[in-house]
Amino acid sequence: MDNVIYYFSGTGNSLKVAKDMAEKLGSTELISISKAINQEMYGAFETAGIVFPVHSKGVPMMVVKFIKKLKSFKVAYYYAVATHGGNLGGALEQTSKLFEKRGMKLAAGFAVHMPSIYITFNEEEQNKLFQACDQRVDRIIQTIKNKKAQVIEKNGFLNNLWIGIQYKMFLWLIYKRDKSFWVNEKCNQCGICAKICPAENIELKDGRPIWKHNCSHCYACLQWCPMQALQYGKTTGLKRYTNPFISLKEMLQSSRN
Ligand SMILES: Cc1cc2nc3c(=O)[nH]c(=O)nc-3n(C[C@H](O)[C@H](O)[C@H](O)COP(=O)(O)O)c2cc1C
Repeated sequence: MDNVIYYFSGTGNSLKVAKDMAEKLGSTELISISKAINQEMYGAFETAGIVFPVHSKGVPMMVVKFIKKLKSFKVAYYYAVATHGGNLGGALEQTSKLFEKRGMKLAAGFAVHMPSIYITFNEEEQNKLFQACDQRVDRIIQTIKNKKAQVIEKNGFLNNLWIGIQYKMFLWLIYKRDKSFWVNEKCNQCGICAKICPAENIELKDGRPIWKHNCSHCYACLQWCPMQALQYGKTTGLKRYTNPFISLKEMLQSSRN
């Protein structure tokens, strides 16, 4: 294989983008970050990409840990793709800095706007976003094929300060937030929540999930629960959303369990 794409995905958006990119690039190995993080990584590639969702204006913790592990590669061109719900924040700038700290250069960073669990879209609006995403992926592929460098825009000092505060608060609260997940009487003890969790953070006790406070807060457990039995807080609040082009089977294949 000439190329490799590593992805992390909760509702399937980033997996959809990564899959489309792999198909359009050709000769591309598609690897889930939650699996790769515990394996030795080695190889030589023409291009290597990381595709992930924006979490609280930044990079999900599991992706941060993954970038810190990247070492035994010979790669001509590194790039990152951040899928987001309308506010990229500092995710690409943060990725670029993480690469710099590892002595590597991120040649290009791309943002792709997707439907988000936080914003309610109707079907028409959602379809428009998917169409725009297809066109965006085509343009991204052209840039990658030509190995063109793309400047990663900087947010400026004050903006970065504010983004940084929100991101740090989010990471700090993740552990507490994990305690807010619970399951109602609809639970049929299928165990999908435990299998799909990319962080292996869910254990089953008498068939029902228990969260172990190592959550990456991707919401995969809640969104992919076939019975909609998983809840968050007093009322779940969030609209349930999974990417319509990605199947539960594909998501389960991405997880470590
Ligand atoms: C915990 C969490 C935090 C998020 N924070 C942001 C954000 O700051 N800005 C934004 O535009 N979207 C945000 N989103 C939306 C996701 O980035 C977006 O829906 C993404 O495409 C999801 O990709 P995935 O399905 O691959 O996980 C957030 C989603 C989650 C679960």
